[in-house]
Order: sequence, then structure tokens, then C-alpha cells
Amino acid sequence: MMDFLAGHFDLIRGLHIVFVMAWIAGMLILPRLFVYHMKTEPGSDMDAVFKLAELRTLRIIINPAMILALLMGLLLAMVDTQRLGPDFYLKPWALTKIAALIFLFAWHGFVSKARRQFAAGSNTRSEKFWRMTNELPFLAAIVIVLSVTTKFLGH
Ligand code: HEM
Repeated sequence: MMDFLAGHFDLIRGLHIVFVMAWIAGMLILPRLFVYHMKTEPGSDMDAVFKLAELRTLRIIINPAMILALLMGLLLAMVDTQRLGPDFYLKPWALTKIAALIFLFAWHGFVSKARRQFAAGSNTRSEKFWRMTNELPFLAAIVIVLSVTTKFLGH
């Protein structure tokens, strides 16, 4: 099993990146749907269209992409732990990635809760809130990608 994973490390790494892209892309589009959803009349056809679009974005893109990105990441982590030992994760760049990941998982939970509120017609947040917070997952992605690529220049 470990030999198989180690032998396919680069393939798993590529898949990890692809699923991460879909996860982040989904979390960038969902609040945009919320913003346009808020402009529709409750109970109208457009209201129903946005509810369905939000449901599908979460169920077909965001949730599966997160699970697959996490799964690939954990497989990579198993190989790295065996090769490099657990100290690998105590480096500042790795801790930075972990901190940004905790934020992304929390944000994922937050937008899925908001999706349920929109579906129930009980959204509590303003259009301005969603416009202002829209870039947060992208900021987290920038932090993560630059931490893993530069390793803070300590290779
Ligand atoms: C879901 C939880 C995640 C876990 C458990 C995880 C874990 C890992 C591990 C163990 C590696 C291999 C590191 C190496 O040996 O090079 C890796 C690579 C990578 N991860 Fe993640 N990751 C996760 C999420 C993310 C996210 C959200 C992003 C970007 C926004 C990301 C971006 C990358 C990139 C770009 C690489 C390739 C870097 C390289 O190999 O030099 N990961 N990840």
C-alpha cells in the first residue's frame, strides 16, 4: 500500500491540486449566487432557480471536491510522514498551511449553513457582507499555495 502510494506520489499530488481548485472555485461562486439571490422576489421563479443553483453548487462541486482534496492530501501526508517523519508538519510553512486549512474548513461550514438559511428563506446577512467576505477563500488559497511553494524559502 505505502509502496503503491509512494510510486504514484506525483499523480496524487496533481489530483490533489485539481480537487483543491474545484473546492475553492465552488466557495468563490456560492456567495456570488447569494448576492444575486437577494435581488429576487421571495417565492418567484428566480428565487427557486437560485435555491437550486446553490444546492447543486454545494452538493455537486464544493462538498465532493473538498472530500477528494482532503483524501488526496491525507494520502500525500501518509507518504511524507513515512519518508520525512512527523517533524515535517512542525515547520512554519506547514503550520501556516494548517492554520489556513482550518479557516477554509470553517468557512465551508459557514457557507453551507448560509445555503440552508437561503433555502429556508431566512437569510440573515446583507449583500454587503457577502460581497466583502467573498475573497476570503481566495486569500486563504494564496497563503497556502505560497507557503507550500516557497516553504518560506527554507528548502
Ligand atoms: C484538505 C486538506 C489538505 C491536506 C491534508 C493537504 C496535504 C498536502 C500534502 C501532504 C501535500 C504534499 C506536500 C509535499 O510533499 O510536497 C500537499 C501538496 C500540495 N497542496 Fe495540499 N493539502 C490540503 C489542502 C490544500 C489546499 C486547500 C491547497 C490550496 C489552496 C493545497 C495546495 C497544495 C499544493 C499546491 C501542493 C503541491 C505542493 C508541492 O508538492 O510542492 N492543499 N498537500
